[in-house]
Amino acid sequence: MTMHSSFSSSDAPQPLLVLDRISKHFRVAGGGLFHAVKSVSLTVHAGEIVALVGESGSGKSTLGRIALGLMQPDGGSVTFGGQCLTNMPPAQFRALRTSMQPIFQDPTASLNPRRTVRELLEQALWKQPGDHAQRCLGLLEDVGLRPAARFIDRYPHELSGGQRQRVSIARSLAMEPQLIIADEPLSGADVSIRGQVLNLLLDIQRSRDVAYLMITHDISIARAFADRVAVMMQGDLVEVGPAETVLTTPQHEYTRRLVSAVPALG
Ligand SMILES: Nc1ncnc2c1ncn2[C@@H]1O[C@H](COP(=O)(O)OP(=O)(O)OP(=O)(O)O)[C@@H](O)[C@H]1O
Ligand SMILES: [Mg+2]
Repeated sequence: MTMHSSFSSSDAPQPLLVLDRISKHFRVAGGGLFHAVKSVSLTVHAGEIVALVGESGSGKSTLGRIALGLMQPDGGSVTFGGQCLTNMPPAQFRALRTSMQPIFQDPTASLNPRRTVRELLEQALWKQPGDHAQRCLGLLEDVGLRPAARFIDRYPHELSGGQRQRVSIARSLAMEPQLIIADEPLSGADVSIRGQVLNLLLDIQRSRDVAYLMITHDISIARAFADRVAVMMQGDLVEVGPAETVLTTPQHEYTRRLVSAVPALG
């Protein structure tokens, strides 16, 4: 091999999202530093569902916000679709960002209360050609708000929590993302609608081939949902692998504790 020859990596599919040695610290009272994320590397491939689990305070949301470009890491890099997000010019970042959509725990906070469902969806569609009125109705149907005409002119406060979550999902879908980063999308929801929203997210993944980074402290969601599971503990990624392997034969004591705290699904 000469100095100039290089390995072709084109035969292996490039991950959609690459988090490379991400670290993040916060200043705490007294002047010290708290290391919330410590050199974490994680990938998500196209169409893949990766569950990021770990107990409260382990750094999951911080990592998710960094992946979305909502927060800058202190070290490491985020690459999406082959493009490095760090120090990307804002206009280029905004264009790329439509391909990577967040879904948050509390849909109320992310929906402008003064806009109707139609306006909220049209805002998300503004860059796309075609008949937006029809698209809006179609999106509502897709997320199970049927008949769509009954919901389209409502304000967020005229919807139930589950219906609001569906509207926020519809709005994310309007951008036709390749990746959805969902931070505890179900924990704000009533137990009775959790299963429905979970099934909805799965349907979307199958029909649109969207990838998910699903942040949750709920192992049973990871079990029902994920292709791969990544386990965070106090800012470190302690285990990552196929969901089946990680959840049935966890290697790390911490993962064993997380898994054994959850009753097996019937
Ligand atoms: N802006 C901030 N300033 C200071 N500390 C922060 C900040 N954001 C997060 N932290 C701390 O970083 C740690 C990780 O927080 P993070 O929200 O990422 O945890 P998490 O794994 O998402 O937890 P949960 O399951 O409760 O949502 C926590 O100890 C938190 O208190
Ligand atoms: Mg969190």
